[in-house]
Order: sequence, then C-alpha cells, then structure tokens
Amino acid sequence: MDVFKEIKRLRDELNRHNRLYYQETAPEISDSEFDRLLRRLIELETQYPQFYDANSPSQRVGGEPSRGFESVPHSGPMLSLANAYSYDELIDFDRKIKESLEEKYHYTCELKIDGVAIALRYANRKLVLAATRGDGQQGDNVTANIRTIGQIPLVIPDDSPADFEIRGEVYMNIRDFQTLNDRREAAGENRFANPRNSTAGSLKLLNPQEVSKRPLRAFFYDLRGVDDSLSHSQRLELLEKAGIPVNPERKVCENIEQVWDFCREWHEKRNSLPYEIDGVVLKIDSIAQREIIGYTAKSPKWAIAYKFPAQQARTILNDITLQVGRVGSITPVAELEPVYLAGSTIKRATLHNEDEIARKDVREGDTVIIQRAGDVIPQVVSVVLEKRPGDSKPYVFPDICPECASHAERKDGEAATRCTGGLVCPAQRVERLKHFVSRGAFDIEGLGAKHIEAFSNEAIIKTPADIFRLSDRADEIASREGWGAQSANKLFAAIDERRTVSLERFIFALGIRQVGQATARLLARQYGSYQNWRDQMDTAQDRESDAYGELVNIDGIGPLVADDLLGFLGEDHNRAVLDDLASLLIVEDFKAPDTTSSPVAGKTVVFTGTLETLSRGEAKNRAEALGAKVAGSVSKKTDYVVVGTDAGSKAKKAGELGVMILTEQEWLELIGSGG
Ligand code: IVH
Repeated sequence: MDVFKEIKRLRDELNRHNRLYYQETAPEISDSEFDRLLRRLIELETQYPQFYDANSPSQRVGGEPSRGFESVPHSGPMLSLANAYSYDELIDFDRKIKESLEEKYHYTCELKIDGVAIALRYANRKLVLAATRGDGQQGDNVTANIRTIGQIPLVIPDDSPADFEIRGEVYMNIRDFQTLNDRREAAGENRFANPRNSTAGSLKLLNPQEVSKRPLRAFFYDLRGVDDSLSHSQRLELLEKAGIPVNPERKVCENIEQVWDFCREWHEKRNSLPYEIDGVVLKIDSIAQREIIGYTAKSPKWAIAYKFPAQQARTILNDITLQVGRVGSITPVAELEPVYLAGSTIKRATLHNEDEIARKDVREGDTVIIQRAGDVIPQVVSVVLEKRPGDSKPYVFPDICPECASHAERKDGEAATRCTGGLVCPAQRVERLKHFVSRGAFDIEGLGAKHIEAFSNEAIIKTPADIFRLSDRADEIASREGWGAQSANKLFAAIDERRTVSLERFIFALGIRQVGQATARLLARQYGSYQNWRDQMDTAQDRESDAYGELVNIDGIGPLVADDLLGFLGEDHNRAVLDDLASLLIVEDFKAPDTTSSPVAGKTVVFTGTLETLSRGEAKNRAEALGAKVAGSVSKKTDYVVVGTDAGSKAKKAGELGVMILTEQEWLELIGSGG
C-alpha cells in the first residue's frame, strides 16, 4: 500500500464529508462512519509522522493552550457600519448614493448576524490566520480556536483563489447556546447573557480543546484580495463554491423599495431563524462603485445597517419578587403574566435594582412594556400609566433579606442592596461555606468545593459549625454513594485536625466583606484573643466609643472596612452562628513574634512624613515584627510618633497630646538598628 496515497485519500474524503455535513447539510455517511475514517487517518498519521500536515482534518484541536493572544495587524482596518432605524433613513441613505453615482447601481441585502467579527487569511489555499476585530487596526490571533470550528475549511479546493482574506461573523445557534448555558449552570458556572456573549467568551478561551466543545459557527460576508471586477454577490458565490460558509438568505435588489421589502420580510421572520439577527445590512454590489462612494473614518459610505426595533410586548406585572444572589446582592424580578416574545414565552423580567424601580415607577398590578434587545434576559421598559389600577401603591424596597430575614443594606454610592446574613442566608450558603473551607481559611483536607456543594444541597451542612458536627452523622455519611466508613473517618480526622485554629484564620474564614487575609491578621494582632475581639467589636458598635476609635485607627482599616465588619457582627444571626462555631473550636490567641527583648513590644507607633532609610511598608513590617502596633493616626493611646520630612498635622497633634516624638534616626536607635 502506498501509505501517503492512503493518507491523502482519507484526508480528501473527510474534507468532503465535512463539507457535505456543514455546507450542504446533506451528509452521505453516518457520524460513526465519519469517526471510523477519522480514527483510521489518525492511526496512519501516528504511525507515519513524516506525513504530518497541520491542515489535516485530524488537526483541528492541535496546539497547546496559550498564555495569551498575540496581537496582529489587519490587512486593512475593520470598520463598523452606520445604522438606520426607519424607512425614511434608508431613503435618505439611498439619496446620497444616487448623488455620488452616475450609473445604475444594485444593493446586496444580507442578514446582520448578531455575533463576533472575525478575519481569516488563506495563503496557498490553506487557513493561516484568524484574527478578532480588536480595535479595528489590530486584533487577537485566535487561529487555534477558529480551527476547531468544523464548518470552516482548513484547506480549500484547487480551483479556488489561492491567497485572500475573508471577513465574517462567528455566532452560536440559539438552541446550542441554551444547551451550553444549562450545562454551565449544572456545573455551577455562570450563565452567559446571550449567544453573542457566549461566542465572544468562547473565542477568548486559551485552550483550543475547550473551544472545540463550544458550538461555534460562522458566516462570511466579505472577500478581499481578488480581482476588482468581481462584484460582491459574485464574490459570495465564489466563497460558497470554495466551501466557506455564507448565509444563504441574501438578495440583490434593484432599488431601495426592494431593500425595504427584504427588511420587512426578515423583521417578520427573524424568530424563525435558528440564530439571532439584529437587522439587515445593505451594501452596494459593485466594488468599483464602492470606491467612488468612499468611506468616513469609521465606516464605509456604501453600506448601512438597518436595525430592527427591539422586540417588545405588553403584559401585566403580577408581582415583584426578590432574588438573592450567591454573594448576597438582592435583585428585584418582575413576575409577569406569561407573554410570547421573540421566540419564547416570557414569565419574568429583571428590574435590576431599587433605583430602576423608582425611576420607572413600576408597581405591582401595572401593565408594562417588556423588551428583549439582543439580550436574553428581558427587561421592563416602561409602565402603561393609563392602565394603572386605582388602588396601586408605589413599591417599597424591603430592608430585610427575603431568604433569611437578615438586615438588607445599601451603601452610599452603590446601586445594589445586599443581604448581611452571610453565614445564615441559604442563598449565600454554598459560596460562604466554600470560602470557609478554602486554603487560607480552615483548609480542611478532603472537604473541597464539590463536597460542600453536595452536603449543602442536602442540608447536611447549613452553617460552618455543622462541619464540626459532621461526625455525629457518621452512618449517614458513610452510606453515601462513593463513600464508606473508611473515607468518612478520614474526613472526620481531617476536620478534627482543624479544630484548633489561629485567630486570624478564624476571622478570615467568616467571609466578611472587605475582610481578607491581611485585614484578618491586623485584627488578630490588635485584639489578641477571640473573646477580646468579640467584646471590643460589641463595644465598637457605638460609633462614639473608644473601641470604635481604636478599630478605625488600625493602619489598614478605615471606616468603610469597619462598617462592613460591624455590620456583620451586629446581626444576631451572625453572632449566633459565631458563638456556636467558637464553642466547637479552640481559637488560638494571636502569636506575637518573640519580642521578649524588644524595646517596643506592645507599644503603639504612628509613622508620619517621608522616611529616609525605609519605605512606609518596611517601617511598618519591622515595627510589627518587634511586637509594636502601627496605627494610622495619633491618639492618647499612641506611644511614639516617628516623624520623617514634611510631617504635618500628626506631629502637631502628638505635641498637643504629649506623645513622644522621635526622628527616624532616634527610632532606629530605639529598635537597635541605628546607623
Ligand atoms: S458588513 C465595513 N455584513 O456588524 C463593515 N457586517 O455593525 C462591513 N455584521 O462589524 C461589515 N452581519 O461584525 C457586514 N452581513 C453582514 C454582517 C455584518 C453582521 C457585523 C460585523 C460588523 C458589524 C457592524
């Protein structure tokens, strides 16, 4: 057997079937037959590596995951299109065309695919480059990702032009997008808002292996680098012949009236398509005429996009409910009388937040206009005031969480209202628990995110304390699928190992907003023991107290962090969970570094002005390593103020309070590293 001939035959055969399958949707063989041919090819290619070819149909998901995308310049700028929203605007556009052309002209009308723009380069009839639009001048080299799209030929037939560029749109069918989203949700990942976002997200993946699992497709609407005498519509035909996907729903029109008919037809029929379109693009068909008409800086003057109006419907808003997200933000949702819109029945729409409801004055019982503008999540656009029932009342946004009855709060300058019941709120439970067992927190071996998810769903673990009571349910755990007495005991042992925990880990594990590892450490250092911390925080709830002053005066903690911290600890629910948890654990006192010989152990220091030999961070670390506390401002409790150059009000305040002032040199001498 001539191996190379056989390899070539298999490649041609597979390319042909690929084309029959994707282009002509008329497959001649079954999927399993296709797989058999492909496996045979891969077998031969592995056995005879000398016949390797990057463009073999076996090589669609080749290549290692990349660390980022290389930026590549476009052959010519990737422009955008001007928009028209009405028949009048189209007439206007046509009038300008008429003015600049002397002879007769035609328009090609195409659907405007709602996807992501892409440019492909073929050299020697092989796909060599795929680039995203980027800033229009240069884009990301996403060749490896584009090669995974089965519809796009890696090699084109010999009777096609050899070197050229094509531009088009990558997209996803709505059905495929929905399936993908459902799968993501089941895997605990975020849903994409719409097929376009999902497509853009997929193209940005660094691993082509992952991209190949995304149902990407493409249509091409531009061919460059060929003979100018070929009109646009002829070029599209040429692309089709080369096996490149071109949208079949297009039409050459004689005049703007025909164009308008095409627009109206597709406005009506848009929901019958398997993919999303947001309008019609009309382009002058002759390339020579295009050059006469010319360009603006942003877009060609020979083409325009007619954008469909947003798809709207009118229905009744029965109720406003609230959804609590996984990190506590509370989103109001309009519960609607079901209404059919843009291909599906809509029962709910987002109302975003408190301000949106107030701005639109949306009330329960109102008749509302909803719309779907590209995005899959429908929105409430406005209220039909004439239809408002007489007894209607303005909506009052609640100040307690609908899930756990904790206090809900909205910070100045923020749009979202949040639930403060982090540890008790069922909506937030899973995320909080995952954080609780994570690496920097309790770090329990064998109790990862997956187990937390399962235990939490089955309400075996509701609060962090339940983790430390898990061994009370030993039989139940051991009899779970995939478990057994041995793995259960192993888990209990790992949990027991973490019953003793440092104060800083303990505080960090609580997942309080803005209290990360560094802040948790500052708190542990300042307050020393769990009990002291709790007591001081209780006292600090009074913003006039010294305890509050001490808290906000810790360098690195200001009033905003203090607000979140005290807000959390001010909730009865949270306090109960904390007490419960602490009763099952030994929370170790903060271990100050060994500072028995340190002259500044336990002293509070404030640095001010520019220091000469140390950066502020170094000075702080050094002082803390010697057991000193570093504060941000001067108070009665301050022991030393170290002044650099340009020291301002803090030095003055130290003088007023009679706090000892040291120069940088004096400080260095005090701590024993003076020069
Ligand atoms: S022609 C000079 N034709 O719409 C720009 N664009 O809003 C030539 N698009 O960036 C574009 N379908 O990503 C053209 N049939 C079609 C299109 C189309 C979708 C996108 C394209 C472009 C954007 C402009």
